[in-house]
Amino acid sequence: MAKGLLEGKKGIIFGALDELSIAWKIAEKAHEEGASVLLTNAPVALRMGKINELGEKINAKIIAADATSMDDINALLDVAEADFGKIDFVLHSIGMSPNVRKKREYTNLNYDWLVKTYDVSAMSFHKVMQVLYQRDLMNEWGSILGLSYIAAQRTFSEYNDMAEAKALLESIARSFGYHFGKKNKVRVNTVSQSPTPTTAGTGVSGFDKMLTYGEKMSPLGNASADECADYCITLFSDYTKKVTMQNLFHDGGFSSVGISADVLEDL
Ligand SMILES: NC(=O)c1ccc[n+]([C@@H]2O[C@H](COP(=O)([O-])OP(=O)(O)OC[C@H]3O[C@@H](n4cnc5c(N)ncnc54)[C@H](O)[C@@H]3O)[C@@H](O)[C@H]2O)c1
Repeated sequence: MAKGLLEGKKGIIFGALDELSIAWKIAEKAHEEGASVLLTNAPVALRMGKINELGEKINAKIIAADATSMDDINALLDVAEADFGKIDFVLHSIGMSPNVRKKREYTNLNYDWLVKTYDVSAMSFHKVMQVLYQRDLMNEWGSILGLSYIAAQRTFSEYNDMAEAKALLESIARSFGYHFGKKNKVRVNTVSQSPTPTTAGTGVSGFDKMLTYGEKMSPLGNASADECADYCITLFSDYTKKVTMQNLFHDGGFSSVGISADVLEDL
């Protein structure tokens, strides 16, 4: 169903680990829609994941970069600038919490790990944008997206310190969206996605039940990674030029439902 929505556009995609990753699906669709893509992920993900397969499939260069390192981000953008000149779209699809990984309860957080959660999952979004902004590397009417989750607005008991990281991520999108809009007419948004079975997603305790709950609460059902990719493509395209500084729910209606007949039936 490709329509050439990104014909001639050039983009950087952070966070494709394996074929389940939301970023993987977005990279595939961006390529199908005519974009040239530069892929990047943390050095450890390049060793452990399958990103090389994706690189071959979509004919994309892969650059290792820890998204918390300003040096790595600058080196990545050196390559992007040499290959692409200015950039039309950027996807930040990165999340990691040591507290979640090491199963620390929210009421017993390790604060060094909390800082790491913020740095990897939210501040990295600011860091990438700050380098793009200062080096003037975005084309006018470009589009920058981060991926979020509704635990930024409402409490999901098992989402732990990632809730605060997502709240920060969404706030950064609003604040940087202002500055990037004024400077280059670049839009910055976050997409708040349904629970999705990926490596990061399934790391949250009780994930399977959250998936089932989301399915029963949402009139359209949970949004899949493929559907998320379709939505993100529209947000990179020229059809959404005046959408900026928003957190956009892509969740089958979940965020507007108080209780559903399916959930009532189960109680
Ligand atoms: N899966 C879900 O249920 C769900 C729901 C809503 C939002 N999201 C968000 O979607 C995004 C993508 O996650 P996913 O579900 O596709 O899982 P994923 O595990 O496939 O992707 C997470 C990525 O973050 C990368 N990463 C971690 N630390 C990094 C670092 N220091 N530098 C660069 N990259 C780093 C990982 O290597 C991995 O590729 C995340 O922001 C996640 O929070 C996921």
